[in-house]
Amino acid sequence: MIKNCLFPVAGYGTRFLPATKAMPKEMLPLVNKPLVQYGVEEAQEAGMNNFGFVTGRGKRAIADHFDISYELEHQIQGSGKEELLGDIRTLIENNTFSFTRQHQMKGLGHAILSGRTLVGDNPFAVLLADDLCVGEEPGNGVLKQMSELYNQFRCSIVAIQEVPADQTHKYGVIAGESMKEGLYRITDMVEKPAPEDAPSNLAIIGRYILTPDIFDIIKDTPPGKNGEVQITDALLTQAKSGCVLAYKFKGNRFDCGSIDGFVEATNYVYENVYKG
Ligand code: UTP
Repeated sequence: MIKNCLFPVAGYGTRFLPATKAMPKEMLPLVNKPLVQYGVEEAQEAGMNNFGFVTGRGKRAIADHFDISYELEHQIQGSGKEELLGDIRTLIENNTFSFTRQHQMKGLGHAILSGRTLVGDNPFAVLLADDLCVGEEPGNGVLKQMSELYNQFRCSIVAIQEVPADQTHKYGVIAGESMKEGLYRITDMVEKPAPEDAPSNLAIIGRYILTPDIFDIIKDTPPGKNGEVQITDALLTQAKSGCVLAYKFKGNRFDCGSIDGFVEATNYVYENVYKG
């Protein structure tokens, strides 16, 4: 069973400036909970309990969020507000949180390589907290669905969704052979292709399960699109020498790295989670 989940959270979040000038993008709240906590809860639901964060300068608030706040807890003791901290307190007590820094923003592949010491020589999940994912059925989030697939196939898996042709330039896009409903064996991948260069409309979103051999592959992967070390390029190498699966997950995904997606997610959470 996969126990480790890596959270690359070193990005600058420039699309949210000035909000992200002094605050990490991953701490932006959907109603009353920061984005990153939704991610950690999804990973915990999938049975994971070791959470590694690849952070950068100015991201200390994330480490503080997953730590006890003695003064605050002392202050609200007996006031009836303690229950507002109940969920995060339980998360902290039941899991391990560790942190390392990516010293330079050299791309997602490089961020994942920087997290190697946090997950060791084990298969691990990668969760991009700016993608909020909601499973079709309660209790069966996207990482849980992928974890179950991993137990069956024992190879790297990426989550995909169909996107309109004019959106392919925002994603890694795959080509694959269909194995069964919603599951493909990857034969090609292109990072942020123009619509005419996209091998399909199946785009990779921010959920991955990776086998640890990916680290050595990333090391040998030269910078690609935008001069960054792309995880997509490393995964293509892995796919060509072995097997990488693409899974069309059951559920919804909100791109909270964009203003529109963030507002949609806020409305969804307010209606379905907070009020519902
Ligand atoms: P994005 O492409 O969304 O970049 O990264 P960003 O900096 O977070 O946001 P914008 O585009 O400037 O608004 C996708 C994910 O990969 C992480 C980011 O933190 C984000 O979760 N990432 C990206 C890193 O950790 N390191 C990198 O070098 C690049």
